[in-house]
Amino acid sequence: MPFFRPLIAFFALQSLSSALQFCRVEGARTDLCFAIASTKNQTTKGKDVSLHLSARFEQRNGWVAFGIGEKMAGALMFVMYPGDQDGDITMSIRSTPGHFPPMVTMTSNVPVVHVTRTWVDPDGLHNAQMMCYDCETWTSSDLDVDSSKQSWIWSSNFMQNTRSDDPELMLNMHTDRGVTKLNMDSSYEKHPDEPVIAQVSTQRITMNEPKKHKEKHHKHKTFGLVSIHGFLLTVSFMSLSGGILAIRSGMPNSFKMHWIVQSVAGGAIVLGCLIGIWLSISHGGHFSSFHQIIGLAILPGMIAQGFLGYWHHINYVKLGRRTAISDYHVWVGRAVLAVGNINVGLGLKLGHATSTSFYLWFGALCLQLCILIPMWYFWSKGLTIMDVLKQGRVARKGSADGMGGGAAADYASVEQDPFIVDDDDLDDRLDDELDSGIKGRDLEMR
Ligand code: HEM
Ligand code: HEM
Ligand SMILES: *[C@@H]1O[C@H](CO)[C@@H](O)[C@H](O)[C@H]1NC(C)=O
Repeated sequence: MPFFRPLIAFFALQSLSSALQFCRVEGARTDLCFAIASTKNQTTKGKDVSLHLSARFEQRNGWVAFGIGEKMAGALMFVMYPGDQDGDITMSIRSTPGHFPPMVTMTSNVPVVHVTRTWVDPDGLHNAQMMCYDCETWTSSDLDVDSSKQSWIWSSNFMQNTRSDDPELMLNMHTDRGVTKLNMDSSYEKHPDEPVIAQVSTQRITMNEPKKHKEKHHKHKTFGLVSIHGFLLTVSFMSLSGGILAIRSGMPNSFKMHWIVQSVAGGAIVLGCLIGIWLSISHGGHFSSFHQIIGLAILPGMIAQGFLGYWHHINYVKLGRRTAISDYHVWVGRAVLAVGNINVGLGLKLGHATSTSFYLWFGALCLQLCILIPMWYFWSKGLTIMDVLKQGRVARKGSADGMGGGAAADYASVEQDPFIVDDDDLDDRLDDELDSGIKGRDLEMR
């Protein structure tokens, strides 16, 4: 079904982005990558880790290694160097108690590691794929396949004359080394449908490092365009709630208040969205976040809403009754309000706003709902907020009048005959009408 295609593409992207690998490529001295994927073994219930180590050796010299842990001491190390013959590879599993050459481990607590495949690509990349069964049983350093920041050490030497089939070959000191943290959780498959095999990607770059928020995103100025965009849209969406309250308020000038407030707020929203588009273009032209997509969808909805309101009104004046347009205006309006308010939160997330901003936003959201929900409730019972407020006053004065009765009296007192307009001078009449304010008409518009 064509409808599902974007969905499938979306999930394909998700699984692709979960590729987990570290790479260090620096001239001829270092060119190594390792990829990791872990699974829960359905038979043993242990956590198996699939590893792929891929490196280039200048003139088939040197060695590369990576290991579980944050320091040499206690790390379980996977070491690779070119074999005796062209196309051969030697792998060994080693460890060391400190800053000494790692030795092949003989202790009993080493998890079972199978080298499942070794090969040399035509372009000289040496590859080894391994499976470390129930890998978390290694206790000299910590491995946690659920961890979002698992430490791995890596190192390389580009000069040693290795070219040996001896897995116990004494290693010379590394010429390059480092520690990296990887988001293991991103590649942990709890319910695998098929065997999970780590694969270094053809792009030799590090993927799925834990996010370093502080370094990664740039700070924006407090009074910059980003803040103007956020502030303008937040305030405008709150104002829309005010305009909606106005049209249902039961006040004599409610219609005028509604269309003026909504038009100003609507205009500000259009402006705010345009600023958003400008921000996105000037920040590199990516339109991929939910916030931006929702914002782009709101823009035409907002513009349409103004026309729908006007159209409804003209129809109403002409026919003296509501039409389908009236419902479109009401429901598109409610949708725009809801989605826009949510988009404020998404925008705050995108802009890495402070938690204070989030609390303020949430407070504003609750405030709007606290006003609108009772309003809609009473409206569905045929009461405006004004009716309810007046009722309260009457009740406090000790009147015996029931609620419905009071409301009915109020309606009767402000009701007027609908304006009957012929097409030719409709616009003039409408202008006059908007100027003078059509008192009471809004009450019949339900
Ligand atoms: C541009 C932004 C606007 C928004 C977001 C908006 C939103 C809304 C919403 C949500 C309602 C329904 C209230 C409820 O939920 O009970 C409503 C009703 C109404 N609006 Fe607007 N409005 C806008 C502009 C206008 C304009 C420009 C006019 C007239 C020129 C207008 C005229 C009306 C009228 C007459 C009603 C009552 C309709 C009925 O219930 O039958 N609106 N508006
Ligand atoms: C309903 C419409 C929208 C609302 C309510 C909204 C709201 C917000 C808010 C509250 C922020 C956070 C500002 C801050 O951190 O101080 C923000 C940021 C942002 N918005 Fe919007 N926005 C809307 C539409 C759009 C559109 C249409 C785009 C572009 C397609 C857009 C692009 C952005 C970008 C790129 C940021 C983050 C800028 C940065 O931090 O570098 N927004 N938005
Ligand atoms: C589960 O572990 C056992 C024993 O270590 C191993 O032989 C088997 O291949 C594993 N199963 C899968 C699906 O990898």
